[in-house]
Amino acid sequence: MSDAKTKLSCVTVALHWAVGLTMIIMLTVGWYMAEFEEHWLYPIHKSVGMIAFVVILARVIWRIKQGWPEAASNYKAWEHTLSKIIHWALIIGTVMMPVSGMLMSGLGGYGLSIFGLELLAATPNPEEAGKMIPINGPIAGTAHEIHEIAGYVIMVSVLLHVSGALKHHFMDKDGTLKRMLGKRID
Ligand code: HEM
Ligand code: HEM
Repeated sequence: MSDAKTKLSCVTVALHWAVGLTMIIMLTVGWYMAEFEEHWLYPIHKSVGMIAFVVILARVIWRIKQGWPEAASNYKAWEHTLSKIIHWALIIGTVMMPVSGMLMSGLGGYGLSIFGLELLAATPNPEEAGKMIPINGPIAGTAHEIHEIAGYVIMVSVLLHVSGALKHHFMDKDGTLKRMLGKRID
């Protein structure tokens, strides 16, 4: 069940792809719905994000227990440093996004529910239709800023991360990507 230089555990591989692909979809949908004001997508984005948070936490606990996997091949020093920075940014980002999302929506008065299952009720303003009474406006506002800025930082990190994976696969022709696809490498 542990990660080795020649083969990653199925837990590491399954959690990487479950969280990674969900994050890519959530970043895309989040940006799209906010940019084009597609309000029907908001409850879906929030519900999926909260469910993803459970898997994200499982992944973080797994990483803390296991440590980082050893690099699959002999990376150059700069590659090693850059990949470490990006891996940290990605894993912290996966926690920051759902936490800031929940704080922004929950404390903003919009409530929290997972596909109709209410976790926190919304607090609508009786005097202004469609407006909410925030539970804590300043924290909700800060969380909103964090959700937006961290979103862009993670998008850039994912681009660098995927470019690195493709460079290792196609240019260096080492086992970095194959190992993350569950294969044994020499
Ligand atoms: C198509 C997209 C992706 C590809 C091809 C990909 C590929 C890889 C590969 C090959 C590794 C192993 C690197 C090594 O051994 O040094 C890796 C590790 C990692 N990836 Fe991705 N990745 C993708 C998306 C993501 C996304 C979206 C996230 C998070 C937001 C992410 C987070 C991580 C982290 C934290 C690691 C370190 C090992 C671990 O914690 O399991 N990846 N990825
Ligand atoms: C799981 C990871 C998540 C990712 C990767 C993600 C990503 C994003 C991104 C990139 C945006 C666009 C930001 C902007 O340009 O304003 C966004 C918007 C938003 N997200 Fe998330 N999100 C996640 C989880 C959540 C959760 C759990 C909630 C709430 C429970 C949430 C609530 C929102 C809301 C309300 C907006 C719209 C903000 C606006 O209209 O300005 N997100 N999200």
